[in-house]
Amino acid sequence: MVTTQYNPFIPEVHANPYPMYVRLRAEDPVQWSELMETWVLTRYDDIVAVLADSRFSADRRQAQNRFAQQAQKIQEEFGAFGRTQTMLSSDPPLHTRLRKLVSKAFTPRMVEGLLPRIQEIVDERLDAVQEAGRMDIIQDLAYPLPVIVIAEMLGIPPRDRDQFKHWSDEIILTLNGPLTSPDMLERARKSAHELTEYFRGVIEERRKEPGGDLISGLIAAEEQGQILSEDEMLTTAMLLLVAGNETTTNLIGNGMLALLRNPDQLRKLRDDPSLIQTAIEELLRYDGPVQATGRVATEDMEIDGHPVKKGQVAFCVLGAANRDPAKFENPDQLDVTRHPNEHVAFGDGIHFCLGAPLARAEGQIALRTLLRRFPDLSLETDNLQWGGTFILRGLKGLPISL
Ligand code: HEM
Repeated sequence: MVTTQYNPFIPEVHANPYPMYVRLRAEDPVQWSELMETWVLTRYDDIVAVLADSRFSADRRQAQNRFAQQAQKIQEEFGAFGRTQTMLSSDPPLHTRLRKLVSKAFTPRMVEGLLPRIQEIVDERLDAVQEAGRMDIIQDLAYPLPVIVIAEMLGIPPRDRDQFKHWSDEIILTLNGPLTSPDMLERARKSAHELTEYFRGVIEERRKEPGGDLISGLIAAEEQGQILSEDEMLTTAMLLLVAGNETTTNLIGNGMLALLRNPDQLRKLRDDPSLIQTAIEELLRYDGPVQATGRVATEDMEIDGHPVKKGQVAFCVLGAANRDPAKFENPDQLDVTRHPNEHVAFGDGIHFCLGAPLARAEGQIALRTLLRRFPDLSLETDNLQWGGTFILRGLKGLPISL
């Protein structure tokens, strides 16, 4: 028997990676991938163990493979954004300091205060399409919502929003690693520089005149006498923008598609909106926006008898962990009442998604409102295009009739 090889670049796999995950988990759950030059992990327990293991580093610059070398090249092009470590790519004690400081400005209470505004944005978006009787969930709702929210949180004026979103989209293109074409790289580089300059201006303004926004919060955040340096503030603002946009778009898009393809579950949720919390967790588990993340071994070790060498990457396929039958009963079945649901769609361990409360709030309000206002919505076509990268999973469009 020929063992299945991890290859997310085949078009059918890009459209639906889950059958490949089933085979990998059964045949070769800790696989050395020649294609990726990484270890590919698809079992829940192995992935959770790596994400909790301090012998693994989140600083991908230490990795010895072509993806990492490409990433390094990209980073070098990115000015302050490349020079400075973000919390996502740093280890303690730097990670601890950055995360503590940013958590002070980015609190669950702040998210709670945003709920009425998120509802208002969703309602405005749906008002705009109501008469037409149809909409594209991505273009009309899922794409604009998170960028409006994060732009407002950062205190970015509405006139700059489109530009702001464009920069974020261009930077995300580079997640394709070695598949990033020179043209994509150039566009991303240009956007990173423009966005950096833009944020520099905003920071300067807020230093003179602080407001209630997140950048003012970052300027004010002090922990044990330490403050964020200007470069750290810049990269943090950019991280919040880049980490929160496409992911939240894809939660709403992938989530709505999963419901439309499982009409009994859609009906259940529509008839009992109090299920929205368990439903969003289940949609994150079932078809999460972030399919994978990586960690670099800082010493030689073993995973399940396989020799992992210092500098090698453990590529953790979160989307596969979330369908592991050893962890979840009937993993391929969507169940909006599933509880408990310890999925890893937001990662695990010290890098657990800082924006999770915000993403959950946006997802819950968007889907609840869609189903309340348009109880009979249906998919217009089954011919859907998947965009994104092999790491960020999401649809290009999701046309529905209301
Ligand atoms: C459904 C939407 C989202 C998903 C699925 C998601 C997923 C993730 C995952 C998997 C990680 C961990 C990555 C790793 O361990 O390497 C992460 C980290 C992070 N996310 Fe999210 N995210 C979402 C939305 C957001 C939003 C809205 C924000 C902020 C506005 C955000 C900010 C962050 C930050 C700052 C980190 C780094 C945390 C750290 O390193 O300590 N995310 N996210």
